[in-house]
Amino acid sequence: MSKMAAVMESGEDAFKQLFKFYKRRKPPPDFSEVIDFSGKLCSGKVVPIKLNLTAVSDASIVGLRPAQDWRAFGLQGYPGFVFISNPFRKGSQPFWIRQCLKTYPQKPNVCNLDMHMSPSDTQDIWERSVHSLSSPTPPRRQEKSLLERLRWVTLGYHYNWDTKLYSEDHYTPFPADLQLLSQQIALSCGFSDFRPQAGILNYYRSDSSLGIHVDESELDHSRPLISFCFGQSAIFLLGGKQRQDPPTAMFMHSGDVMVMSGQSRLLYHAVPRIVPAPPGLLPSELQNSPTSPDTNSVVEPVSEQDWTVCLRYIESSRINMTVRQVLGPGQSFPQS
Ligand code: SIN
Repeated sequence: MSKMAAVMESGEDAFKQLFKFYKRRKPPPDFSEVIDFSGKLCSGKVVPIKLNLTAVSDASIVGLRPAQDWRAFGLQGYPGFVFISNPFRKGSQPFWIRQCLKTYPQKPNVCNLDMHMSPSDTQDIWERSVHSLSSPTPPRRQEKSLLERLRWVTLGYHYNWDTKLYSEDHYTPFPADLQLLSQQIALSCGFSDFRPQAGILNYYRSDSSLGIHVDESELDHSRPLISFCFGQSAIFLLGGKQRQDPPTAMFMHSGDVMVMSGQSRLLYHAVPRIVPAPPGLLPSELQNSPTSPDTNSVVEPVSEQDWTVCLRYIESSRINMTVRQVLGPGQSFPQS
């Protein structure tokens, strides 16, 4: 019997059991059955996927390698699920990480800190965190910086965590750079008219997790959900249409991109664990090389000063951005 089968023997819901298994601290779980798309692929479930390479027109502009160099995989039993193993050009992830930490948390975007702090206090999260995150040794302090207290940011149509709805009147412009990046990924998967309208950024500390859920608040489910990961690795569990269906576990490393579309658009999923790299051993992909990018690139060089702060942050954290289309063509929000 495999280790995993042994875990699943009791009658308890298979997804919950695996979630608890991978979240467990003592003893730490065995990761040998977690699919690692960055390594040698031993799982019979993994299948190579053919992307629509010619449709990707602006890869280098958004810091992606040429599409013919991307390594894309699907999983047997999950039609519409695509895993692209870090398609980012070396040196371009720092830009996207800085956007997640310095730019996207800014007003008019919305973040968890707005829920219990005044607008003037959440005005400049980055500037107010820089001092404590750029000193060579973390100052002994009682209070965490605002960046370290950031849990989520919403973009475009702002997701309402209480009602689980988007609404017409809570919208701010979706970032143009992230729109272009997401559209390149959508194009490669055959979605030529994907319109990024909402984004949810999740910020994970090394002990964070994300519970079992399905992303169904968007009104049009025929468009993909696109997910980008930066910083520390995580275990991602992809389940079925029913909450209790047994999931498949996979690693998500910095730069990895995942697309949930078609029959996989509404599958249950969760992040039970962040798997921090040993101190000082961040992947070389995360080295900042502030070379001058292409003239029309959206990817700007990241200053050493900004990168020091980003690096300190991601040494113990993970960032995930999910991009969604909320409304189909001609669709509008129901009258409330
Ligand atoms: C999500 O499901 O919304 C985010 C998943 C992740 O952090 O990878």
